[in-house]
Amino acid sequence: MIVVSSEEIISQKVLPYDLYDEAGIKILEAGEILTPGKILLVRNHEVLYRKDKKQTQTDTPRKTQSYNNNEAPYSDTIEDVKKYGPLNKKSKIDFETQIELKSGYTNALSVFNQNDVSRAKAMILEVRDRIIKDSQLIKKNVQFFSELKLLGEHKNIHPLNTAIFSVFLANKLEYNEVQIMEIALSALLHDIGKIKLTGEITDTSKMTKDEETAYRKHPLIGHRLIKTELKLSENIARVALQHHERMDGTGWPYGISSTMISEYAQIIAVCNHFDNMTSSATNLEISNFREALRALLKAGSRAFSPKPLYAFVHMLSYGDTTSFEELKF
Ligand SMILES: [Fe+2]
Repeated sequence: MIVVSSEEIISQKVLPYDLYDEAGIKILEAGEILTPGKILLVRNHEVLYRKDKKQTQTDTPRKTQSYNNNEAPYSDTIEDVKKYGPLNKKSKIDFETQIELKSGYTNALSVFNQNDVSRAKAMILEVRDRIIKDSQLIKKNVQFFSELKLLGEHKNIHPLNTAIFSVFLANKLEYNEVQIMEIALSALLHDIGKIKLTGEITDTSKMTKDEETAYRKHPLIGHRLIKTELKLSENIARVALQHHERMDGTGWPYGISSTMISEYAQIIAVCNHFDNMTSSATNLEISNFREALRALLKAGSRAFSPKPLYAFVHMLSYGDTTSFEELKF
C-alpha cells in the first residue's frame, strides 16, 4: 500500500485507483467520479492509501486511445516524421493534423526567413485556422492537456502548443470567434522575435549575461516584426511585447504590471509558461504536468492574471474544457 495525499486525489475528476482507509478498507473504487460528496469523504480521512503505483500519474489517460501503433495511419519512420519530429501518440489531435501543423509552421518560419513575408503570413494564418478548427472538433473529448501537446523541436512546436492551449483557454473564458482568432494568431507569433537572435539558446537557465541581454530583446523585436513586416494589429503585436511581463511588475522587458498588460498577453503568458514547463530538457517528451500545475499555482496572481490562471488550472485539473457559458443550465 502506498500513501496518497487528499490533494492528489481531488485534483482528478475520476479516481484512477482503488482507495483504502487506514484500516485497509476500500472506501472508493477506481473509475468513480469524484463528486463534491466524495471529495468531502476524502478530506475527512487523515491517511489514505492506494495499491497500484503505475496508476498515480495525473496526466496518464485512463482509457486506451481509439488508435494504437498498429492502427495508426503514420509511423515514426515516415519521411514527414523524420523531418518534423515525433508524433504524440497520446494526442487527441490526429496524426495527419499533427504533421500538417508542424510542417505548416516550420515552413512558414523558413519562408519568413527568406523574406517572403506575405507568403509566410498566409501560411501562419492557415496554421491558425487549422488549430481553431481542430480544437472545435476535439473540445469535448480532452481529458488531459498532454493529449493536446505536439512533440518536436522546441522552437517549432512551442508556438503551436501555446496557440492550442490559448484557443482552449479563450474558449473557456468565452471570448468571441474574432477574439479567439486574434488570440491564436498572437500565440503563434509571440516568440517570433527569437528568429532574429543570433546563436541557438537551448537552455534559458544556463545563459551567460550577454546571451540573456540579447534574449531579453526578443519581445521588442517580435513586436516590430509583427507590426512593420507582417503588418498585423497592435493587439497581436502587444502579446509578443508583453508575454514575459508579470502582474506584480517583476517581468520584462518593461516591468509593467496589472491592467497595463493586455488581456491577450495575460492569457498567453499562462499558456506560454505552462508549455515551457512541460517540455523536457530535450523537448521531446511530456514531463510532469502536476509539477507545472503546482508551479503555476505557486506563482499565483502575483505573476498571472487570476481569471486566465484559474480557468487554465481548472481545465488542467479536471480536463473540463467547457466554457463557463456552456456550464450554465
Ligand atoms: Fe518568449
